[in-house]
Amino acid sequence: MKKVLLLCGVGVASVFLALFARAAAEPQNAAPQFTADGKLVRPEGYRKWVYVSSGYGMSYSQSSSGMQMFTNVFVTPAAYDYFVANGKWPDKTMFVLEVYGSTSRGSINKHGSYQTQLSGLDVEVKDEARFADKWAYFNFSETAKLAGADTPTRNDCWKCHEQSAAVEHSFVQFYPELLKIARAKGTIKPGLRLDE
Ligand code: HEC
Repeated sequence: MKKVLLLCGVGVASVFLALFARAAAEPQNAAPQFTADGKLVRPEGYRKWVYVSSGYGMSYSQSSSGMQMFTNVFVTPAAYDYFVANGKWPDKTMFVLEVYGSTSRGSINKHGSYQTQLSGLDVEVKDEARFADKWAYFNFSETAKLAGADTPTRNDCWKCHEQSAAVEHSFVQFYPELLKIARAKGTIKPGLRLDE
């Protein structure tokens, strides 16, 4: 009897250990973390989130200047699953947009461009309790560990995303796989023109 109990105890302990190890190994599912003074902690695990799509040299103003940048977009895995099922974003959704420089000259490359140096992260968080405007915007330099929300609320980031993004504040019109889902679920902002 004692032996059985002991074995049970070991069994329970190892289940707990396994669960703990899993939680520790999956920081990528973590909700946004804020400091007491409202700064967002850099989401270190984002490269294990779901990859959404990339842009190259995209510019939202008529004049474009300087190096063509690549942008890579990632979203929290739980939010992605919810989007696949519903075509919308749940509370605590977090997006990271990486900005990389580009070059076409290096190694064996003869044509086309590839990514070089990380120049920063743009982060977007949906948190309905924390932000009156639901979505908030943060910019991290290449190495910054904390970022304050771009202020005032309804700043340029917020306004452009509010006005021109296809689904809530996300630019799904530029993410072909998500666009299919949004079309199927009928969640694209009414009246928004997706062509030029
Ligand atoms: C004039 C319009 C405009 C402004 C201003 C703007 N964005 Fe965006 N944003 C876009 C577009 C277009 C995309 C999609 C394509 C891309 O760049 O890869 C995007 C994509 C994003 C994404 C990826 C998720 C999504 O919503 O599709 C994040 C995160 C993001 N922007 C954060 C920011 C932050 C932070 C700021 C302010 C510092 C900002 N943006 C300002 C137009 C804008």
